[in-house]
Amino acid sequence: MKVLVLHGPNLNLSGRREQEVYGSMTLDEINARLTEKGLELGVKVTCQQSNHEGVLIDALQDARSWADGVIFNPGGYTHTSVALRDVVAAIGIPVVEVHLSNVYAREEFRHKSLLSPVCKGKIVGFGWQSYLLGLRVLVEE
Ligand code: DQA
Repeated sequence: MKVLVLHGPNLNLSGRREQEVYGSMTLDEINARLTEKGLELGVKVTCQQSNHEGVLIDALQDARSWADGVIFNPGGYTHTSVALRDVVAAIGIPVVEVHLSNVYAREEFRHKSLLSPVCKGKIVGFGWQSYLLGLRVLVEE
């Protein structure tokens, strides 16, 4: 099994921005934990991050040809991007939406996700472990 872990804008700053909201783990540390867990579960985990909407769209289109599922943190694009919603709907492989923070305990504009209706499900508020739970869901599906 192969899984793409895709991080959206500003997640490259994880561990260095608003630690009280997003936790203290860096993106490299998060990716290392997920890769390690993947090895344990017999899953090849590939991690990618971009601050650019078009690059994220390309990565998701490309995943259609090689990945069995995607764990996706769309960052701020969650709340604004019709184009990311459309690509998730188009690719026909399960996408799990994840967020480090509990978006429902934050500003109202973060309560709305354009992507949730086309994702398999969503995990929020467990810090880096939101990704871990997403991986489990995909593997045990
Ligand atoms: C986030 C939540 C978004 O609202 C925010 O714009 C982010 C990170 C999260 O992981 O908690 O950049 O996706």
